[in-house]
Amino acid sequence: MANFDNLSRENFGSRIGVIAAAAGSAIGLGNIWRFPYVAGENGGGAFLLIYIGFIILIGAPVMLSEFVIGRKSQRNPVGAFRVLAPKTKWPLVGYIGIAAAFTILAFYTTVAGWTLEYLYLSIVNGFSGQNKSELQNLFGEFAASGYSPLIWQLVFMLLTALIVFKGVKDGIEKYTKILMPLLLIIIIGLCIRSLTLPGASEGLIFLFKPDFSKINGNVVLQALGQSFFSLSIGMGTLITYGSYISKKDNLGSTAVSVSIADTLIAILAGVAIFPAVFAFGIAPEAGPGLVFITLPMIFSQITGGQFFEIIFFILLVIAALTSTISVLEVVVAYLTEELNMSRKKATILASGSIAVLGLFCTLSMGPMPELSIAGMNLFDILEKTSANIFLPLGGLFIVLFVGWKLSKEQVIDEISNNNLLKVRFKYVFLFIVRFIAPIAISLVFLNGLGLFNAFGGGDL
Ligand code: PFF
Repeated sequence: MANFDNLSRENFGSRIGVIAAAAGSAIGLGNIWRFPYVAGENGGGAFLLIYIGFIILIGAPVMLSEFVIGRKSQRNPVGAFRVLAPKTKWPLVGYIGIAAAFTILAFYTTVAGWTLEYLYLSIVNGFSGQNKSELQNLFGEFAASGYSPLIWQLVFMLLTALIVFKGVKDGIEKYTKILMPLLLIIIIGLCIRSLTLPGASEGLIFLFKPDFSKINGNVVLQALGQSFFSLSIGMGTLITYGSYISKKDNLGSTAVSVSIADTLIAILAGVAIFPAVFAFGIAPEAGPGLVFITLPMIFSQITGGQFFEIIFFILLVIAALTSTISVLEVVVAYLTEELNMSRKKATILASGSIAVLGLFCTLSMGPMPELSIAGMNLFDILEKTSANIFLPLGGLFIVLFVGWKLSKEQVIDEISNNNLLKVRFKYVFLFIVRFIAPIAISLVFLNGLGLFNAFGGGDL
């Protein structure tokens, strides 16, 4: 019960620490691995535009809503709804979040395992002299090979569990504050190299010139899912982190800073990847392997590339870790606070059971093709349902809760720290969470699932 009251509850140490921790959660494989590959599969420019629109209109407000719920309740996502709306069904929203934590971590640790393998390969100079098709085969064969992806996945899960076990404050702030800016610098370096490749401009056109004929219900849903996934919203991660934010911090400006930083990194990752994709003649719709093929190609074109490659993959692993930590923390906070488990037991139980699901996810990429439904393997199913269904659904209930269940005064008190801060956008925020976000999410949902035909509908 130690975490139940305000006084004993662990807080992030400083304002920059709060931003660092939330940005650490947001910035991860979603930006560098998922954004380029999903943008590539969904036509580039038009997707980017819709994605940015969703970040501003829905994403940042959902993030602020999660902070409000978390800091006000001082609880994990299930407990938060329980104390803010006693004797109602609202805690179910928290349970959707717990379910999403399982599905996200299962496939995310598969990909994080790939980054560990790529770190290892860059250290032993395993890419040297390989051309495009060799790198394509390398990725394809590795991901489907079963044994070593499984080991790396377990290693990654173990690292996550160790840090979560130590507790969020020491575990997260310290690393993120220094390492995320370093990641930014390396990505900018990659952008420069990529942009100076012959034929680079075609990649920029692909990424930035919207081709509106490519928009359909499915593209819009994918953009919504990607914006939620990238910002770490919709499953209570930022409710949990919000509960560790001090009562003096400015929730609105934190949400805005984190959203800007996250979007910037995603766009820069796109600027690093797409010019190279076109320069090297890789298909932009190559799928989850896109960056694992393209990045080693770019590094091979840089003097001293191996050195930067090692640094890059170290930082990518850390960026992934600061994200997986935040997801596992949701489950651990739930188990410790709601079920009174010790932190140790909760961490072992949560990471152990997620690891089992994760193993099947990795095996579905190769050795166990029978783990698939309608042409999608377990990895694809978990990835798509997490991002495109669980997170937007959670986000919908979160904005409805803040917009309609909490009173206007409660919300304004929380975002203004009981009127100590002057918050200019408060009515805009209330309008968004009451009307714009719920309506937009519902329409995108119905349309993307093919139930409503404003943009032509589409499959998942
Ligand atoms: N936002 C993370 C990324 O972009 O890699 C992934 C993620 C973390 C999604 C936490 C959801 C979440 F709750």
